[in-house]
Amino acid sequence: MPLTKKTAPAPKKPEGPSKKSPQPFGLVRGVRDILPADQPYWRQAFEMAQSLCDAYSVDRIETPVLEETGLFVRSVGKQTDIVEKEMFSFETTGNEHVTLRPENTASICRAYIHHGMLNLPQPVKLWYWGPQFRHERPQSGRYRQFWQYGVEMIGESDAVIDAQLALIAWRFLKDLGIDTVVRINSIGTPESRVNYRNALVAYFRPKRNRLSEEDKKRLLKNPLRLLDSKDPAMAELKAEAPQIVDWLDEPSKNHFMRVLEYLDEVGVPYQLDPFLVRGLDYYTQTVFELYDTSETDETAQSALGGGGRYDGLMEILGGRPTPAAGFALGIDRIVSKLKALKPTLPEKKVEVFVAQLGEAGRKRALALFEELRLANIKTAEAFAKGSIKTQMDIANRLGARWAIIVGQKEVLDGTAIIRDMDAGTQEIVDGRKVVHELQKKMALTQQPTV
Ligand code: HAM
Repeated sequence: MPLTKKTAPAPKKPEGPSKKSPQPFGLVRGVRDILPADQPYWRQAFEMAQSLCDAYSVDRIETPVLEETGLFVRSVGKQTDIVEKEMFSFETTGNEHVTLRPENTASICRAYIHHGMLNLPQPVKLWYWGPQFRHERPQSGRYRQFWQYGVEMIGESDAVIDAQLALIAWRFLKDLGIDTVVRINSIGTPESRVNYRNALVAYFRPKRNRLSEEDKKRLLKNPLRLLDSKDPAMAELKAEAPQIVDWLDEPSKNHFMRVLEYLDEVGVPYQLDPFLVRGLDYYTQTVFELYDTSETDETAQSALGGGGRYDGLMEILGGRPTPAAGFALGIDRIVSKLKALKPTLPEKKVEVFVAQLGEAGRKRALALFEELRLANIKTAEAFAKGSIKTQMDIANRLGARWAIIVGQKEVLDGTAIIRDMDAGTQEIVDGRKVVHELQKKMALTQQPTV
C-alpha cells in the first residue's frame, strides 16, 4: 500500500523565554541578600554582641523598624544629611507619616519614655541589633539597608559611662580580631557650642569663595558640619580653623579629661580628633568613632562605628531631662572585615550520617535522626535519596566518620548497622541501643593513643 506522502513537520523553534514569560526580579538599589555562606560571620558577630552585653549587664531591646517621621526630624535634626536627604519616609493609607528608621537611638529614647523606664533603677542599659535604612549613594560598605549593633546607657551623666561605652565597642571588635582606634572629641554643651559656632563662622566667612556649593550651604545652616566636609580643599582650610576644645566650659573640659583618663586606665587606644563632630544633631560632650588600624588606604577608611553622649535628647522628645550616651557599630562593614581576616571558618564537622533503604528504613531513619540530634551528635542525612551508594558518597563528601544504615531487613530484625567509614568495617547492633553503641565507639576513637 502506497504510503501517503506527508510533508515533513516544520522544525520546532528552540524554546526560549516567550514574550509573555515574566522577567525575574532584581534587587532594589542599595540593598542585598545575606546568603548562607555569609551567615557564619553574622552569627559570630551576633554571638559576640550577646555575650559581651550579658557580661556588662546590658538588656536586649527591639523597637519597630517603622516610626513616626517626626521622631527622627526632631532628634537627628532637620538640617542633617540623614533628615534632609536620606530618609525612606511615606504616608500610609491611614494618613500617618512614617519613616523606616535611619538609626536606632531615637527609637530607644521613645521607648524609654513610652514605657516609663525612668522608674527603673538607673542607668537603664539597652542593646539592639537590627536593620537601619538610609537613602545614601550606594558604594562599598555603604548600603541603603544596613545592620547596627548598638548599646545605649540612659539615666547617668558620669564620664565613666562614656568610657565604658567606648570600651565595649572597642572590645567587641578586638575580640572579633579587628584592631581599632577610638577617635574622640568633645563638642561640649549646647551653650559652649554657640560661641564656637560663631568663631567658626567668623573664620570661614572670609574664605567663602574657596568653599564648595555644599559647604557654602553648611556655613549658613549648620557650620559645625563644615568640619565633616569631604571636599579636598577643606583639609587645608580646616587646619587653621578654631578647635572646639578651646571653647569648652570648665565642666565639659573636666568631663572630657575624665573620659580620657578612664580610657587610659583600661588600655583603650584613642586619638584626639579636634574636628570630629558626627552627623547627628543630638550629641553633647563626648563624641567618638572607631576605625580599623590595619586599614592603610585612606580612601577606604570608613568608621566601623560611632557614638557619644546625648544629654538633651530625652527632653527634646518630650521626656524628663535624662542624661544618656551610646554607640552603634556597622555590622555590614565589620562582617566584610571578618571575611577578609578569615576567608574560611572552621565548620562543626558532621560526625554521623544516617542512611536508609526502603520505606520502612526511611521511617526508622527519621526517628533515629531525632535520637542522635537530642544526643547532641552532629548528624547528616539524605532522606530523599534511595540508593545506598549515593548516600555513602554524600557521607564521604561530608567527611562523616560513622554511618548508621537501616534497611528493610534491619527494621524487621530490630537492628541497625554502624559503619566505621575510615576503617571500612561495620557491625550490627541492637536497634534500641544505636545511640549508646555509637557513643561508645566515638569515645574509643577519641582516646589519645599512647
Ligand atoms: P552613625 O555614625 O550614623 O551613628 O552610624 C553608626 C555606624 O553605622 C557607622 O559608623 C557605620 O559603621 C554604620 N553605617 C552608617 N550608615 C551606613 C550605611 N549606609 N551602610 C553601612 N553602614 C552604615 C548612629 O547611627 C548613632 N545612632 C550611634 C549612636 C548610638 N549614638 C549614640 N548612640
